[in-house]
Amino acid sequence: MTILHVTDCHLTEYDEREPEEIRDTARTRAEAFKSQLAGEGTALENFRRLIERASEQGEGERAGKIDFTVFTGDIIDFPSQANLETLRDAFSRLPSPYLYTLGNHDWNFGAACTDEDRQAAYPMFREWSSAVPGCEVRELDGVKLIAIDNGNYQVTQEQFDAVSEAASSGLPYLLFMHIPLYVQGLVKDVVKKWGAPIMMGAAGWDPDVREAWQVRHQDDSTGAFCRWLGSPDSGDIRGIFCGHVHLDHIDAFREGRYQYVTAPGYTNHSRLIRLIPE
Ligand SMILES: [Fe+2]
Repeated sequence: MTILHVTDCHLTEYDEREPEEIRDTARTRAEAFKSQLAGEGTALENFRRLIERASEQGEGERAGKIDFTVFTGDIIDFPSQANLETLRDAFSRLPSPYLYTLGNHDWNFGAACTDEDRQAAYPMFREWSSAVPGCEVRELDGVKLIAIDNGNYQVTQEQFDAVSEAASSGLPYLLFMHIPLYVQGLVKDVVKKWGAPIMMGAAGWDPDVREAWQVRHQDDSTGAFCRWLGSPDSGDIRGIFCGHVHLDHIDAFREGRYQYVTAPGYTNHSRLIRLIPE
């Protein structure tokens, strides 16, 4: 069974339906990503390539076939009508099932950041997520796929309960979320790139930097969830898959269990996950 993991496509489509100040913000964001891409296609072209990849059905021995795709947030850089239509159109053409969980960007234009702002924006994503914040569980051939929205660096008690209930089924499971769990081995690269430990449950924040990033101290449920993931209590978890930091990185978060941080989709990166029956 093959799962395609796609994250951080940061689409910046917009048009005259948006008010002028939104168009200005959108233009600035579009330019920022364009300059990083330097001739390697646009974010939209790379997103379309990834959707084509996700649509591969293969031949014979299932070569190239994608059975499921998981999108872990920041797929759109802001919720413009053009961005939402691009998503809806692409997802509707996928021949196999998918999950889409939100990041810190998908639902806001850069100014909003509170949980209340996110709650107000969530109805735009109702076709993809049933709860605020999201926690979706699917079963695929005896493996559970769990996607949670931790785009505010937090996990609620309800999300934690839903994940631990799914984990207690005894089936192996994969956890997908936007923001990586803080693991020691990831710190150096993240801080080098971003100047801040932008991971869930991170220690070592400078208080001023924390405020600038608008990352509040972790909620009790977040702390408990991070400790649970790092302990044998998290059961038969076979991997955490995330994005957000725009790096390709693999590190253990628990003995023999790995977190896979996937490089961004806007640079045409993705990760293939092959599940081999035991
Ligand atoms: Fe992000």
